[in-house]
Amino acid sequence: MCVHRDARGYVRYRCGLTNTIQDVLRQRPGWVEVKDDGEWDFNWCDVGWLRENFDHSYMEEHVRICHFRNHYELTHKNLMVKNLKRYRKTLEREAGRLEAAKCDFFPRTFVLPSEYPLFVEEFKRSPGNTWIMKPVARSQGKGIFLFRKLKDIIDWKKNGSRLEDQRDENQVERYVAQRYIENPYLISGRKFDLRVYVLVTSYVPLKAWLYRDGFARFSGTRFSLSSIDDQYVHLTNVAVQKTAPDYDPEKGCKWQLQKLRRYLTAKHGAETVETLFRDIDNIFIRSLQSVQKVFINDKHCFELYGYDILLDEDLKPWLIEVNASPSLTASSQEDYEMKYRLLEDTLNVVDMEGRLSGREKRVGGYDLMWNDGPVYREDFSLDSLGSTCFTANTHLGCVNDRKKHLGQLKAFSGQKRA
Ligand SMILES: Nc1ncnc2c1ncn2[C@@H]1O[C@H](COP(=O)(O)OP(=O)(O)O)[C@@H](O)[C@H]1O
Ligand SMILES: [Mg+2]
Repeated sequence: MCVHRDARGYVRYRCGLTNTIQDVLRQRPGWVEVKDDGEWDFNWCDVGWLRENFDHSYMEEHVRICHFRNHYELTHKNLMVKNLKRYRKTLEREAGRLEAAKCDFFPRTFVLPSEYPLFVEEFKRSPGNTWIMKPVARSQGKGIFLFRKLKDIIDWKKNGSRLEDQRDENQVERYVAQRYIENPYLISGRKFDLRVYVLVTSYVPLKAWLYRDGFARFSGTRFSLSSIDDQYVHLTNVAVQKTAPDYDPEKGCKWQLQKLRRYLTAKHGAETVETLFRDIDNIFIRSLQSVQKVFINDKHCFELYGYDILLDEDLKPWLIEVNASPSLTASSQEDYEMKYRLLEDTLNVVDMEGRLSGREKRVGGYDLMWNDGPVYREDFSLDSLGSTCFTANTHLGCVNDRKKHLGQLKAFSGQKRA
């Protein structure tokens, strides 16, 4: 990493994944792939690579890598909740209860085995409730189950909670036990959750972008609380749903967020839906703020997060988890195109080519949501009292006319090399 990109005229990239991101990088004008130990300017690696190599890598000023060193503070289910609980306490102390209540968007959660006694206390306080047990660091619905009886956990603790690969049979895999949202918002009797993309380019100061597109992931089976063992009813992961016997790959199990927003607006009116989307923005900002002080801020790092958000029947959004490696594998042509655009715009924001001025509030499908403070739209309106009414600069599920905006960026002068 010794010759600066400007002097070289092209960007050397390394890519550890074999999905949509690889296509985007290959087709990007002026970008050249390096293999093995070759020097790179840009690295789209997986978190395993990061763990093994980050601490021994010297990085020049211009180099960028797609994860923060301790991303797990937000993306492991136990740590996310720990950070949120601590943040809520700090807010309560410093700003009062009302402000702290703005963090009440994650279901009650306990880490097992360490918080088992606390969990049992809570469990007994609310008999009959459904709980969900989730391994802290797995994904795609793996290892998850629902339960209502303490007995199920006692049996599981005895038999099932050893680490899967049994490297050390005394080592117990950590789980979270979380209150199951029993009243999800249903469409045609089916549960769904939202996958939303947030790009963080700096933690200090916090700079976060929200992508306009995303999707709702539906369960293919009607929701019911009488079948808590049926993962096709309760887990909306595509990885789970596509293994259902009646899964139809033509139809898939996704709605684009634009379609969902239109549906909800027709049903509940624009104002209710605006409030819902403001509440969802609040989840992004508070969750990022909750880890701001624990993150190792490094100017070389950025991160594309995939948020899982569940709506309940009162249109309250709940934070389920945050993924540092949201699936970039496409489940259909439409999905591929959406992810392709998302990744192209991610590279546009990261701006290895130096085309941005740094003052942009919008780049392609990304809107700047937070820049060391809230970001407001330019087209602010006046309310009835005549004072200025600021509206957040977020457009989740709104029209994504990204091409028009990208047209305003300077073309990269670099040439694509073989
Ligand atoms: N507390 C909860 N209440 C209701 N549904 C949940 C809850 N937690 C998880 N789910 C469902 O299970 C799915 C998988 O859970 P998640 O925490 O995202 O784990 P994974 O990392 O395996 O994706 C979610 O997409 C959602 O459909
Ligand atoms: Mg998930």
